[in-house]
Amino acid sequence: MECSLLYVSRATLAAERLDAAADDIVALSRAYNASAGITGGLVLAGGYFAQLLEGPTEAVKTLMERINRDPRHEEVSVLRIAARSKRQFPDWSMAYAGGSTYVAKQIAALLGPGPADPKQIDRLTTLIVSFASM
Ligand SMILES: Cc1cc2nc3c(=O)[nH]c(=O)nc-3n(C[C@H](O)[C@H](O)[C@H](O)COP(=O)(O)O)c2cc1C
Repeated sequence: MECSLLYVSRATLAAERLDAAADDIVALSRAYNASAGITGGLVLAGGYFAQLLEGPTEAVKTLMERINRDPRHEEVSVLRIAARSKRQFPDWSMAYAGGSTYVAKQIAALLGPGPADPKQIDRLTTLIVSFASM
């Protein structure tokens, strides 16, 4: 059974440390989520996180328990868990939108001479779509 889970939380870290912390979270999440068959998107805005996790129900619940214990955020509120067969982020082990160096890196990778990587273009497109739909 597949499900999607949406939660919001408040970051506990000082504003100037948040971007770096989010980069760490996303880097670690990519590897773990890929191995667990989980995809999704994470947004950091104004000191709040919003994250959508999708994948096998048991795997999503197990991950959510770990995320819930993470001291880098508090007031973790699960808003919705829904049975889902179609994924909203099929190509992303964890898409990320925030005022971070991560978005800058996505753009920088597509700047400059030489043909752009189509996968990279897809990633930036998804980022923009996820920004626009927030
Ligand atoms: C807002 C937020 C989102 C997170 N999202 C993920 C995620 O999608 N995948 C993941 O493996 N860890 C994620 N983490 C990190 C986990 O909370 C935890 O640090 C990590 O899974 C390692 O857990 P462990 O220390 O119990 O091994 C997130 C942390 C925060 C604060």
